[in-house]
Amino acid sequence: MSNIQLNPLLSIRNGNLYIEDVNTVDIAREFGTPLFVVSENILVNNYKAFRDGFQKYYPEGRIRVMAAVKANPTVAVRKVLSREGCGCDTFGFGELETALRGGVPYEDIAVNGSIKGPEIIRKAIDLGIPIILDNMDELDMCQDEAKKMSKTALVLLRIKPYMKDLEEPSDFFPQRLIRDMTQSVKYGIPTSEVIQMLPKFANMPNVKLEGVHTHAGRHSKKPIFWKSLVTSIVDMIKTIHDGVGNNWKPEIVSVGGGFPSDMDKESRVAVTDYQTPHIEDFAKVITETFRQEMNKHGFSTKGIILEIEPGRAMYNESGIHLFKVHNMKHETAHGMDYQWAETDTSETFLSIGGLNVTPPFDLVSCNKADKTYDTKVDVVGITCNYDCLAEQTKLPQLAKNDILAFLNTGSYIEPYTCNFNALPRPGMVMVNGSSCEWVKRPETQEEVFSRHVVPERLQNI
Ligand SMILES: Cc1ncc(COP(=O)(O)O)c(C=O)c1O
Repeated sequence: MSNIQLNPLLSIRNGNLYIEDVNTVDIAREFGTPLFVVSENILVNNYKAFRDGFQKYYPEGRIRVMAAVKANPTVAVRKVLSREGCGCDTFGFGELETALRGGVPYEDIAVNGSIKGPEIIRKAIDLGIPIILDNMDELDMCQDEAKKMSKTALVLLRIKPYMKDLEEPSDFFPQRLIRDMTQSVKYGIPTSEVIQMLPKFANMPNVKLEGVHTHAGRHSKKPIFWKSLVTSIVDMIKTIHDGVGNNWKPEIVSVGGGFPSDMDKESRVAVTDYQTPHIEDFAKVITETFRQEMNKHGFSTKGIILEIEPGRAMYNESGIHLFKVHNMKHETAHGMDYQWAETDTSETFLSIGGLNVTPPFDLVSCNKADKTYDTKVDVVGITCNYDCLAEQTKLPQLAKNDILAFLNTGSYIEPYTCNFNALPRPGMVMVNGSSCEWVKRPETQEEVFSRHVVPERLQNI
């Protein structure tokens, strides 16, 4: 048996891996592999942990959890979160559509995105959905479109808080400072341009500036990062207050996402050798700093909606990826004793590189989960790439038709799948207690060709 840490809704029963109360081997048999599996109850528990963990420390206003749709843009998965009262951040027209199809109330959606065109601006204005402005032109577009529609555009400024006192390096690139990276990154309105925009609001009767938004990213798990970020957000609130005039105050303040998931082993993050704080640790530092800094500038926090946008931490542990061993190879020539388990998934379905000495997900045998993990094997994928998903990893002796699972694949994995080698992309099922249902069917081979166009002149070939 492996010593892999399982989250509370995974268990080993009679040698098989269960997700909630469903045997993963039965799921693989019934729905086929490769397959993404989501646990509804892990997702709901994660949402409640964020909501309650933050609300506990912010009695003066509402905490709005705006789960980042991008991490798992599946409509039925989104419906689960909508049922629970969770809002969402959307990036671009497609994700806005996901939120609308996923039953998110308009007021609980935020429309983020680079280069928003009139189409998305008009839709957001029409439905009363707040728009997070990412450049100067978008403000004019909001006024023009809202005027044409005789409506009001609700907007937030996506700002780039300058964390002047933070000398911390980024966990992604330890040779760079977080402060520099959050300034040089493309998203958000440059501060100099925010300042130019502020006087315009007085002459924009069809625009209502509701607040500010930022998303710095997952540069650090340290509370000091959040302290600095929130301090700098409030500094910008003061600048905006002074520049807009009319005693402007934010109704909504979003500190964005970037919360770590404890079981995440993402390989892009270079520095991981320190403890992941608890959600309440983040809640404490964010709310206390917000209150303290606002008061320092003479503002009250009473009634201000404080938003958080967890993506990775919301979905990561809710997902596993099931796949099947189709063939075993064993080299005994040249003094070698080398085994490969050829499986039906791929690096292109898992967003991982071609040679994984240490894969970024824990690997479990679903049907031999209680056996000793004592046999070295390369677990390889189906594409023509090197496609080594786990090199010489220890598993029970594998055989054809064995089912394997990569754990904690719920964030940002499925949306990145592609059709390399003209492979159809895997589907997704959702488990709730003892039930398991499709939420995204697998792509068909025919659909892989559905966008191809053969010009008339090539049709006889
Ligand atoms: C605007 C915005 N909010 C939230 C998130 C979620 O970030 P994370 O998954 O690190 O929590 C992202 C991720 O890119 C984002 O762009």
